[in-house]
Amino acid sequence: MTPKILIIGACGQIGSELTFKLREIYGDKNVIASDISYSNLEIVNSGIFEILDAEDYAAIKVCVEKHDINTVYLMAAILSATGEKYPMKAWNLNMNSLFHVLNLAKAKFIKKVFWPSSIAVFGTTTPKKNTPQFTVMEPSTVYGITKQVGERWCEYYHNKYAVDIRSVRYPGIISWKTMPGGGTTDYAVEIYHKAITDKKYECFLKEDTALPMMFMDDAIKATVDIMSADNEDIKIRSSYNLSAISFTPKELAESIKQEIPDFTITYNPDFRQAIANSWPKSIDDSNAREDWNWKHKFSLQDITKEMLKQLGEKYKNQS
Ligand SMILES: NC(=O)c1ccc[n+]([C@@H]2O[C@H](COP(=O)([O-])OP(=O)(O)OC[C@H]3O[C@@H](n4cnc5c(N)ncnc54)[C@H](O)[C@@H]3O)[C@@H](O)[C@H]2O)c1
Repeated sequence: MTPKILIIGACGQIGSELTFKLREIYGDKNVIASDISYSNLEIVNSGIFEILDAEDYAAIKVCVEKHDINTVYLMAAILSATGEKYPMKAWNLNMNSLFHVLNLAKAKFIKKVFWPSSIAVFGTTTPKKNTPQFTVMEPSTVYGITKQVGERWCEYYHNKYAVDIRSVRYPGIISWKTMPGGGTTDYAVEIYHKAITDKKYECFLKEDTALPMMFMDDAIKATVDIMSADNEDIKIRSSYNLSAISFTPKELAESIKQEIPDFTITYNPDFRQAIANSWPKSIDDSNAREDWNWKHKFSLQDITKEMLKQLGEKYKNQS
């Protein structure tokens, strides 16, 4: 099957880079980008783009039929920090959009679905180090609850209606092209911007808060890999643990100091500290490594070098 792809939420941090990668692999005419607004003009102007509300089943169905779509990547969501401010909005968007896409697959309008879960499915009662694939999951944020419930529904639609749903639990994603959209790991992107513009950063998490993280290129690779794996190799239909590296704000600051020696960091924890405290420090992703051969590439120092290089050029071109 040649994928004819619809990306919902394509203007966001991950959706934007996924759009470029999928167009590179499958060709511009086979990848339709969509979002609720024109918030990322690079995406809007880069190929076929549709305004689409992920909460509108009829509109998604019309778009799927118009473009003869067989594969949907559902990237629209409200993330952890924003979800705590707007709990019902997060619940409605995150759940309604998933049901719409699962129901389109159940009704055979589409054949394959990618939907990302998150490390936010875990909670304070989860083992924090090397968190196993199957373990206690009692999420404490609205966002985490939507992802945990979403996982259960994905598995249910696969078992009951043979929906080909594939999912990974992304850790915090670090990237330079598009700013992150209101998550607890956003500090690990903001810090690089501030390192370049101000040579100092005030972090909203404590210095010793270890969290699982990943460079965008690895996150996109995982997404492409799981979606192109053979059907029988995908043994988990809720969502796969996915891991690359783990570090604290202090360790991240040290890695920046290796490139910018006079960079300084201060700490002023806010409400996001409690969210971070409830999440794992590191993740056991051996199922993903065994089932569909997942491997990450980027170490912390690789990420720091690439982020400072790319953002340095971006800010230079703007001035
Ligand atoms: N970025 C991370 O660190 C991270 C970590 C774990 C999981 N995830 C998951 O990955 C997915 C993508 O995350 P992201 O970081 O790119 O998010 P983001 O906030 O950067 O982007 C989300 C996009 O969805 C769009 N959107 C919002 N409401 C919409 C609606 N009603 N209809 C259509 N589009 C709508 C927004 O305009 C935005 O462009 C989400 O499911 C998120 O939960 C992200």
